[in-house]
Amino acid sequence: MTATVVITRTDGVLEIRLNRPEKKNALTRAMYDAMADAFRQVDADPTLRVALLTGTGDTFTSGNDIADFQARAAGNREASASRFLPTISSMQKPLIAAVNGAAIGVGTTMLMHCDLIVAARSARFVMPFTSLGLVPEAASSLLFPRLLGHQRASALLLLGEPLDAATAHEWGFVNRVVDDTALMETAHEIAQRLAALPPQAVRLTKRLIRHGASDVAGRIDEELALFRERLGSPEAAEAFKAFLEKRRPDFSQFA
Ligand code: COA
Repeated sequence: MTATVVITRTDGVLEIRLNRPEKKNALTRAMYDAMADAFRQVDADPTLRVALLTGTGDTFTSGNDIADFQARAAGNREASASRFLPTISSMQKPLIAAVNGAAIGVGTTMLMHCDLIVAARSARFVMPFTSLGLVPEAASSLLFPRLLGHQRASALLLLGEPLDAATAHEWGFVNRVVDDTALMETAHEIAQRLAALPPQAVRLTKRLIRHGASDVAGRIDEELALFRERLGSPEAAEAFKAFLEKRRPDFSQFA
């Protein structure tokens, strides 16, 4: 069986590639765990300097697997990402994202915890939490208003409006936008530059830039508590069912 997360090491850089293209790299519990393990590996191994996250095919990731959301709603409400989110947000070494196409839901919110983001021209960022009957996660309800201002964050998080690569660059959400064919070369070039720098200075600088992590951790927990509740809500049940039945959801029945 092909691995759904492919890990490749090049010198001091660990590339973590989401690899479930037939489902647009929708994230299963096993994929979240594999990413979290890889981040821990980078922090623990003194010969590794940088992690680089990307996806196979035309999508970075379509977010949490909706069938998995549905299964969790029916039984265990523990969100699949509950170990992944604290791990990515507390990583000590730099994490670069190379966004190859759409980044949906947690595909976008996880990027708030990356230090540098390179986007392909085809990249698109969408957080359709409300239309799934859910609430934001990964401290995005704190970090997006902080980065973009209240109104823009509301358009993204309340309305679920998509953000294209050029606008994301203009708004300061991504560092660079490059042709799709140049994405990996550019991302690896940046990773190698970081890997060549003095590692302690890099780690300390990341820590200073991320200062204030305690309010991030608190918001992740607060969001997760609500998220778990929402997973079991009738609104979310209708949204998940509609997606899997390939029809438009009907929220008119809800007060
Ligand atoms: N969970 C489960 N399956 C997913 C998925 C997800 N998040 N995203 C895509 N898939 C599946 C589709 O059901 C389809 O499966 P099938 O071939 O068995 O029918 C397959 O991946 C291909 O997706 P499809 O929708 O046909 O591709 P597309 O190019 O038309 O659209 C997306 C791609 C990513 C825009 C679209 O699939 C989408 O909107 N996905 C849901 C995103 C979402 O709401 N995520 C949750 C965020 S919290």
